[in-house]
Amino acid sequence: MPLEIRPATARDANAIADLHVASWRSAYRGMFSDTYLDGDITRERRQHWTKRLRTEPRSDQGVFVAVEDGACVGFICILLELDPEWGPCLDNLHVQPNRKGQGIGQRLIEAGAAWVKSRGTYHRWHLWVLEENTPSRRVYEHLGWKPQERAIRRAPDGTTYWGWRYLQALK
Ligand SMILES: CC(C)(COP(=O)(O)OP(=O)(O)OC[C@H]1O[C@@H](n2cnc3c(N)ncnc32)[C@H](O)[C@@H]1OP(=O)(O)O)[C@@H](O)C(=O)NCCC(=O)NCCS
Repeated sequence: MPLEIRPATARDANAIADLHVASWRSAYRGMFSDTYLDGDITRERRQHWTKRLRTEPRSDQGVFVAVEDGACVGFICILLELDPEWGPCLDNLHVQPNRKGQGIGQRLIEAGAAWVKSRGTYHRWHLWVLEENTPSRRVYEHLGWKPQERAIRRAPDGTTYWGWRYLQALK
């Protein structure tokens, strides 16, 4: 079956959580602590995505999954009203580690941008990325996102890190 991008449903919560964990463990090693990454983050992520998709969904939230042969190989989450000054926020974007570099991330970003534009008059959206996450920063810059500011951010493992805010115009 060809790859399909579709809105996530509550039934996707565990698959998204498991992909989130696999992606963090693969891409964020050395950025988040080993203790955190090797701990029981699957349970925490499953609770997080169950809350977001099933028990307490936000009305301004858009979550899309990339599905192939019934398996979730990527997801994107956008929060429209998180930061009124900077516009909608691309809050999460992850592709299955062994499927990176095959155009899935770009398709998810395009689906996310189309959804944002369908929800109101938004001229730009933004995201935060870890300063040390060079591969992802290169992808964003390649796709036309522009770095705006550097700030200290709180990581899920409780530590702080330097992050960059990127902005992309919505055409
Ligand atoms: C960042 C991520 C979502 C990108 O998804 P992806 O499917 O790997 O990216 P794509 O294959 O769609 O690539 C998008 C574009 O970036 C380019 N690209 C990919 N890797 C690149 C790199 N390291 N440097 C420069 N350009 C790159 C691709 O060539 C493509 O451009 P093209 O269509 O002109 O060829 C994915 O790599 C990922 O899950 N990373 C780990 C999690 C993460 O860090 N997420 C971001 C959190 S802020």
